[in-house]
Amino acid sequence: MVNAATRSSSANNEPVIVLGIESTAHTFAVGIVSSEPPYILADSRRQYVPKEGGILPREVASFFSQVAGEVVREALHQAGISAGDLSAIAVALGPGMGPALRVGATVARALAHYFHKPLVSVNHAVAHVEIARFLTGLLDPVVLYVSGGNTTVLSFRAGRYRVFGETLDISLGNMLDTFARETGLGPPYVVGGEHVIDRCSRGGEFISGFPYVVKGQDVSYSGLLTAALRAYRKGLEPLKNVCYTLREIGFSSVVEVTERCLAHVGKRQVVLTGGVAANDELNRKLEIMAQVHGARFKRIPKKYAGDNGVMIALTGLLSYMSSYNIIEPHRAFIRQRWRVDRVNIPWYPKTLGRSL
Ligand code: ATP
Ligand code: FE2
Repeated sequence: MVNAATRSSSANNEPVIVLGIESTAHTFAVGIVSSEPPYILADSRRQYVPKEGGILPREVASFFSQVAGEVVREALHQAGISAGDLSAIAVALGPGMGPALRVGATVARALAHYFHKPLVSVNHAVAHVEIARFLTGLLDPVVLYVSGGNTTVLSFRAGRYRVFGETLDISLGNMLDTFARETGLGPPYVVGGEHVIDRCSRGGEFISGFPYVVKGQDVSYSGLLTAALRAYRKGLEPLKNVCYTLREIGFSSVVEVTERCLAHVGKRQVVLTGGVAANDELNRKLEIMAQVHGARFKRIPKKYAGDNGVMIALTGLLSYMSSYNIIEPHRAFIRQRWRVDRVNIPWYPKTLGRSL
């Protein structure tokens, strides 16, 4: 661990400025965040979109290596600063795909070395939670984190974000994307901010008989996906009915476990984060559930639902100001299976510009 005395810029009453690098999955992104308004100084990203089929980690890594330099340059240009002005570099070291993570880690190590900046290690899942708390101002929420790799209900308890329910198999985003791929609706899976499953669901009707699986606080989607694909292949139902039913069951089951968590932990706030948080219908369902419980719900802007560098910079800044997870560059090892509940959150419930 590097000594907290490295946080020299905060000692001079200068804003603390952190550059964050995201490279865990399909997006290479750099965000720059300041401890003073307007907080978000830069947001530069490039997304890898496969021409067909799924994501191949090596192809992603090669794409990331090609764009990394220009994304860093673009972010510094947007912020109107040079690398020397930064207080620290933050990087998402996991969880995620090994080859992709290695590109971000290498870029971060190089920047930290070359510009003599402290390096902050950030957990990608924690960053999805932090950007939601920051953007909504709901500082002590129950969090539904739904994305390409995760379907998890989280809430802070005893120093960490604890898991109060998750998927037993595939994630919600993966289920929607896989169904779209197998039926030829995608890729791309999201067009104009809308998932192709939403577009296809319009005018659809509910089909009975698909499995709705909630076990305790966990959900399961693989049986639902199989049933939907079978119905599609048999051609007995219009595709719009199958899409509509898949979505209804997928969304309702995660809202159910989020609702139960809210009731048990006794919190008064709910937020939705991760790539699937861009979904209007899921936001609507969660908002209704929150209203029933007299809890506050606020949605996050679509552009910050999916992977971005701003959330890594923000979390890096909070962590850096708490002198937490500051590492020597040569110890910046990637952590492909880094669980969210292994990370301490010493700054909680504070966020940038706000405290309870
Ligand atoms: P994780 O956070 O688990 O590592 P991820 O890094 O793969 O996931 P995110 O950008 O957080 O990526 O989420 C991507 C997922 O979000 C994809 O499955 C994508 O289809 C889904 N998604 C994006 N926009 C929408 C939308 N409008 N409606 C539903 N799903 C969406
Ligand atoms: Fe993500």
